Amino acid sequence: MFFKLIVCIQSLYNERKMEEINKDQKAFWSGKGGEIWVTKQDSMDIMLSPLGEEAIKKLNLSSNENVLDIGCGCGSTTISIANEILNNGTISGIDISIPMIEKAKRSVNDLSISNIDFFVKDVQTENLGKNIFSSAYSRFGVMFFDDPFKAFSNILTSLKESGKLSFVCWQSPKLNPWQSLSVQAVREFIDLPSPPKRNPGPFAFQEKDYVNDILKKAGFKDIQIDDFQREIDMFYGKALEEAAEDYLSINPVITEMLKESSQEIRKSVSDSLIEAFRPFYNENRLTFPSATWIVSARK
Ligand SMILES: C[S@@+](CC[C@H](N)C(=O)[O-])C[C@H]1O[C@@H](n2cnc3c(N)ncnc32)[C@H](O)[C@@H]1O
Repeated sequence: MFFKLIVCIQSLYNERKMEEINKDQKAFWSGKGGEIWVTKQDSMDIMLSPLGEEAIKKLNLSSNENVLDIGCGCGSTTISIANEILNNGTISGIDISIPMIEKAKRSVNDLSISNIDFFVKDVQTENLGKNIFSSAYSRFGVMFFDDPFKAFSNILTSLKESGKLSFVCWQSPKLNPWQSLSVQAVREFIDLPSPPKRNPGPFAFQEKDYVNDILKKAGFKDIQIDDFQREIDMFYGKALEEAAEDYLSINPVITEMLKESSQEIRKSVSDSLIEAFRPFYNENRLTFPSATWIVSARK
């Protein structure tokens, strides 16, 4: 009886702890973060497609594979892999964001594509199946886990023997001025938080050795981490002032802080950002250098 009680208390405790895992990320991606991606996906795609495609190339996919798209968001990479490569294959897009998966499902319905499934799931904690996928892919969807080692162990389990993994993630903000310059410009007027380097977030995988350790510890083999640097276009079709306004609206932390600031501060932040962006503005877009890691491995 006493033993049963202990087991019961323990399982209640574990359940409560499960709810805590990735709690902030779940709230963010089904809240403000998800909203932004749902409305701005086209402009995100212009910025991210050339980087995501580099990671797709690494998989050397054949037309009959069964692919996993990790943190697939609104499903644009899932759809393009299904459309362009998988004639006889299938692809599953998995994401914790409810609104982003809803958007992905709507797109697939509109396009009448039959070889795609989308699921709202946490890649770190939920069952992805065992020996299911021949390849796992991600475009910037793997840097948000509380416990990346557990998440990649889970991904490994879902892969078939010798299954392939490839993803793209950001190197340091210093090498990505679209982020560092903007933050610097905003910081002149607003006290932005500086979370530790490895905290879940877009730059959590900036250290190559850290990424290598996670994959190695999770059991991946043939790990390769390539430096990929190229220019990216942001806010295509926008005037410089509009691009600066858009940048402020896509960063939820800044948006929240600006809401609480005076009109004067808001104007100063916007002017400062316009000046920081000016050297990168040409014709109808901002063009920035970018640095990412193209990471590939095998089960
Ligand atoms: C930067 S967005 C990239 C979205 C998409 N891959 C793209 O390139 O358009 C990161 C994505 O990772 C998802 N994500 C974060 N943590 C996750 C988790 N634990 N399990 C599944 N998806 C997660 C987010 O909901 C979000 O859609």
